[in-house]
Amino acid sequence: MNPPKHAIITGGSSGIGLAIAHRLAAQGASLSLIARTPEKLEAARAQLEAKRRLPDQQVFTVAADVADRAQADQAVQRAIAHLGPPDWLVTCAGIARPGEFLEIPVEVFERTMAVNYFGTLYCIRAALPAMEQQRHGQIVCVSSGAGLIGLYGYTAYSPSKFALRGLAESLRGELKPKGIGVSIVYPPDTDTPQLAEENKTKPLVTQKITATAKTWSADGVAEVILAGVQRRAFAITPGFEMGVLNRLHSVLLPMLNQSFDKITAKVRNLQ
Ligand SMILES: NC(=O)c1ccc[n+]([C@@H]2O[C@H](COP(=O)([O-])OP(=O)(O)OC[C@H]3O[C@@H](n4cnc5c(N)ncnc54)[C@H](OP(=O)(O)O)[C@@H]3O)[C@@H](O)[C@H]2O)c1
Repeated sequence: MNPPKHAIITGGSSGIGLAIAHRLAAQGASLSLIARTPEKLEAARAQLEAKRRLPDQQVFTVAADVADRAQADQAVQRAIAHLGPPDWLVTCAGIARPGEFLEIPVEVFERTMAVNYFGTLYCIRAALPAMEQQRHGQIVCVSSGAGLIGLYGYTAYSPSKFALRGLAESLRGELKPKGIGVSIVYPPDTDTPQLAEENKTKPLVTQKITATAKTWSADGVAEVILAGVQRRAFAITPGFEMGVLNRLHSVLLPMLNQSFDKITAKVRNLQ
């Protein structure tokens, strides 16, 4: 598959989305970045423009909250008006707020679903008619390892990432005859501002459960994502653990739960 001429990346101003943008800029792609904070978008644009390989490459930014349907739709339409139909739409915008179930305000559950799930859905619906018209395109949804198994402390986050899995799996077959590919990414813990934010409220049990897994760099995850899209993979799983979890999650779950329950009991005894 050729590198995209135009990629729209939600959440492209930071972390994994920005790392994808860097790699695509180096391949000659024009980029549209959608996120809320204008200053972060501007900083990303300046970095990416320095990476340009071709004279006509452009970096377009739109400040929008993808959880707001009108804003998401308008942001994608502006990107299309500016740079044409996207070859890729990468939906990376996301939030995570771990905690004990009853200690997380219900508004956080609602907001997490609004950003992670509906923010993805709105952007896909906005971009799809233009992709269908050009009869090609690639949609890349960024889920999480927490979209494969539910983990202690992730009652707000996990369901939003499971929902993306349901969306991507059901959309895949519908869009394939139209020449549009769908991929879903299950990143492990990745060193980004989101992970730093998560660590502020992560329960001790969650910290212990996730402690053994390697933390990836955003660029490492971006590299695997680009390679996955290149070979037209549906599920993209950075690292051995995510690969095994993707293939065997239902089989492994009873054993994993036993091990998680032991960790939980140990931490509870200490508290
Ligand atoms: N880091 C990890 O360990 C990890 C692991 C698995 C999956 N993921 C997933 O990977 C994706 C990227 O996460 P990251 O770790 O790279 O996070 P990050 O560095 O915090 O970046 C998140 C991006 O999303 C944007 N964003 C957040 N809320 C938004 C909203 N309502 N509307 C528009 N843009 C919004 C942010 O910009 P503004 O704040 O300016 O809007 C930023 O550009 C997320 O979907 C996350 O769930 C991350």
